[in-house]
Amino acid sequence: MARTAASVLGRRVGEPDRRLPRNSAERWIEAFRAVRAETERRAAPLSAEDQVIQSMPDASPTKWHRAHTTWFFEQFLLKPHAPGYREFDERFAFLFNSYYVAAGPRHARPERGMVTRPSVADVAAYRAHVDAAVEQLIAGADASRMSAIAPIVEIGLHHEQQHQELLLTDILHAFAQNPTSPTYDERWRLPRVRTARMFVDIPSGLHEIGHDGEGFCFDNEQPRHRTFLRDVAIRRHLVTNKEWLEFIADGGYATPALWLADGWAKVQADGWEAPGYWRRIDGAWFSLTLGGLKPVDPAAPVLHVSYYEAEAFARWAGKHLPSEAEWEVAARAGLFADADGVAWQWTRSAYLPYPGYRAADGALGEYNGKFMVGQMVLRGSSFATPDGHARPSYRNFFYPPARWQFSGVRLVDYR
Ligand SMILES: [Fe+2]
Repeated sequence: MARTAASVLGRRVGEPDRRLPRNSAERWIEAFRAVRAETERRAAPLSAEDQVIQSMPDASPTKWHRAHTTWFFEQFLLKPHAPGYREFDERFAFLFNSYYVAAGPRHARPERGMVTRPSVADVAAYRAHVDAAVEQLIAGADASRMSAIAPIVEIGLHHEQQHQELLLTDILHAFAQNPTSPTYDERWRLPRVRTARMFVDIPSGLHEIGHDGEGFCFDNEQPRHRTFLRDVAIRRHLVTNKEWLEFIADGGYATPALWLADGWAKVQADGWEAPGYWRRIDGAWFSLTLGGLKPVDPAAPVLHVSYYEAEAFARWAGKHLPSEAEWEVAARAGLFADADGVAWQWTRSAYLPYPGYRAADGALGEYNGKFMVGQMVLRGSSFATPDGHARPSYRNFFYPPARWQFSGVRLVDYR
């Protein structure tokens, strides 16, 4: 589903046509339209009622995602760069600012589900208003204005693509609270991938990781720097549900020695006995997916596991989670059968600044840097990640107990 949408223009959505000059208006308008349309396409199967719900503080309503991504363009592009721009509604900055302290006060995140107004229709009108103003700004920009606005349009598009994935993870979490197990899209299927328990060697020694300067990246992927890897082998394929069933059957969720202390506390507090959205019905495991409630497919990669579970599984298997450097070197060496497009992969690396990293001044400097504490890095991308959004240096990050993302597991072996 997500993958079909990704090639609306015959190339990756959000990636401007490189045959056009970098600062051509045509190139940016085309990319802008494609990304904005993809958000609407993902929201389209959802009713107004679906779009208001907030099932936990970490998840946001669909309507909020649609409005917040719009506010981002209004706040960071239109207000400073579009002379005479008229705000759609001056109250929206308070409602739809997420965490940008420098951009002013904001509504409390856990209360986003309380906002029945503006309505879904109002938010659609907000999007149309901002879309028209952005396109007008780009179309009328001279060379000097274009070089100032192109980087903001670009980060706005990558930001919106991040929310496109969150829109799906968040609505699945909301549907999982509903005893009728709603279906987002009955045609949805996890991409078919081959699976095997094969390990391949990563070349040891000095390597470079981080963004290499080609195309867009977020600031947290820089500076590129050297890192030393010892001898290690990494799984070509993701861990499967079949392996997870073996872990469960072997008492994985009932053996404290396998777990980090915080992880074991979470297992006990929340009664975890299987990955997120798994339910046992008449002795068989089912899982709520975007395609509805489905029998757990043993051959498919496991999804919706937390860092705690990934770590416990690795310990049980006598293996380890990869560091993010091991993952990136292996990805660049082409060692993975399924690096992208299935499941994000937990690494054992804490989300920390690379050597010499400094967040930019101003509100956009709040994008990544201030979250570099207490979270773990995930690498790769999932089936819900818009095509072209991720890359080998991409660093996703979540708190260790989080499991509502499309997160899976890859192992390493120090032989
Ligand atoms: Fe955001």
